[in-house]
This record gives sequence, C-alpha cells and structure tokens, in this order.
Amino acid sequence: MMSRNDPCWCGSGQKWKKCCYPRPPTSGPLLAARYLKTYGIVLKTPAQIEKIRRACQVTAHILDALCKAAQAGVTTLELDELSQKLHREAGAIPAPLGYGSPPYPKTICTSLNEVICHGIPDQRPLQEGDICNIDVSCIVDGHFGDASRMVTIGAISEEKRRVVDVSLQCLERSIAVCKPGAFIWEIGEAIENYARQHRCSVVNQFVGHGVGLAFHEPPEVPHHYNNLQIPMAPGMTFTIEPMINAGVREGELDAKDGWTVRTKDGKPSAQWEHTILITETGHEVLTR
Ligand code: MF3
Ligand code: CO
Repeated sequence: MMSRNDPCWCGSGQKWKKCCYPRPPTSGPLLAARYLKTYGIVLKTPAQIEKIRRACQVTAHILDALCKAAQAGVTTLELDELSQKLHREAGAIPAPLGYGSPPYPKTICTSLNEVICHGIPDQRPLQEGDICNIDVSCIVDGHFGDASRMVTIGAISEEKRRVVDVSLQCLERSIAVCKPGAFIWEIGEAIENYARQHRCSVVNQFVGHGVGLAFHEPPEVPHHYNNLQIPMAPGMTFTIEPMINAGVREGELDAKDGWTVRTKDGKPSAQWEHTILITETGHEVLTR
C-alpha cells in the first residue's frame, strides 16, 4: 500500500500527498508542462486540436470511400490508386508512403485474413470469404489523423466473423473507458478481458500511439494487459487499434518485404482503429 508521504508515482519527486493524491489534477496550467516532462506527452492546445480534428475528418472520409470500393474482384493495388487520388483531392499527404525502413511503398495498409497489420497493396483481387483491414493515416496542414476498419467480402467463415466482431467490440469498449484521470492500462484491460471471454488473443507486438503533431508520439497505448500508470488528461490525442487473433497472439514479420506481419499459426486476425481526443468531460472520437 502506498503511503501519502511516499514519492509520487508521477515522477515529480514530490510527496504523493502534495502531488497527485488521490488522483492527478486533470486541468490547469502546470498540467501540460508536467505531462511533457514526465511522459514526453504533448497536451494539445485548442488551435492544435482544430487542425488534428480536420486531419481526422479527412482520414475518415478517405477510409469511407475506400471501404465502399472494396468489393470482390477489386485488387488492393486499385484501392491504393484510389487512395492516392482521394488524398490529392483533399490536399492531404498519405503518412505511410516512404515511412520507416525499408521505406513503406504504398499510401495505405491492406491486411488480409491472416495478416495482422502492415499488409502492402498488391495485384491480388479481393475474393468471397476475405476479410481485409484498410488503414489510412493522413497529414493535413501538418497534422495527423489515423484510422482503420475491416471490410468483409461476401460470406465469411465463423472464425473470421468472430475476430471481426470481437476486435470492433474491443475498440468500442476501450474507447468507453477514456476520460480524464483514467489510466492508460485500463484500455488494455478492457480489450484483453473482452477478447479472452470470446476465445480470441490480443497482439502485444504492436501498440496504439499518441498522434497529431507527428505520426507516432508518446504515449504507447498497449492493447494487452499492462500496468502503464499514465492518467489521461484533456488535450491528449492517441490511437487505439487492437489487433485480435482467432488463434495464437504471436505474429511473424515477412522477411522479404520487411513489413507484412502474419499470424504464426495462419489463423485470421482483425483490427479497427480510431483517433481519440481526451476532453474536459470525457472523450471525443475524432475519426468517427
Ligand atoms: N495505424 C498504423 C500505425 O499506426 C499505420 C501503419 S502505416 C505504416 O502504425 F506505414 F507504418 F505501415
Ligand atoms: Co496507428
């Protein structure tokens, strides 16, 4: 049991009773400075939030159009071409293109069936029975939005239906816990509890992330059980993007392309993602 005279868990060096007791302050001028110093997290200003909100709206709009276009017979490369056009028309830059090492070669990720994440669009047409995650991250006026959804093609197996539905429920249940003072670990708790109850596993090799002024910012947002004692605070913007597997949680990186991650047992995987803003009273889903 922690005593009120112990050093505060937030790393300030002050006594707990003089600092975050019983819960940390959820607003005030010192909060942004403390979050930057303690966690490297930038709490966004109202002006920054406006721009991030705009980037997220564009992201959601592009994702909408791509999901509508994802039909049997359409290749994921054609979806990428449409994505290029939609980004151009919206005055947006696709964040994945050229990102990382080796440089990511396309504007979106299209992760089919047993692919956990970072699938690269190619010549393969979508076919009956497929499930596919489409992940859009775009930059508008220097600010970032990030979201992804699943599409299903025709009739799909019971196992695929389960991961698609469970991953969406995991996302929604974890969004529901987001408010000032809630801890980052509560997200993973909500996700892994629900996934386990429905005979699914939670990928722990990839995490959600702060987003807005850069593609990936602190904090990391694990989807699995964890003990990250970071309290959410107004002005935080981050993604939640649970990757849920029908079989084992482990993934394997494709050694040839350096990006595609597949489940180790070849069983299906699904993912949904939103960018979330913590507000004074709760949260706002910026990519709805
Ligand atoms: N939502 C994914 C992420 O945050 C998007 C990956 S794009 C890639 O990592 F370029 F990194 F593949
Ligand atoms: Co992301």
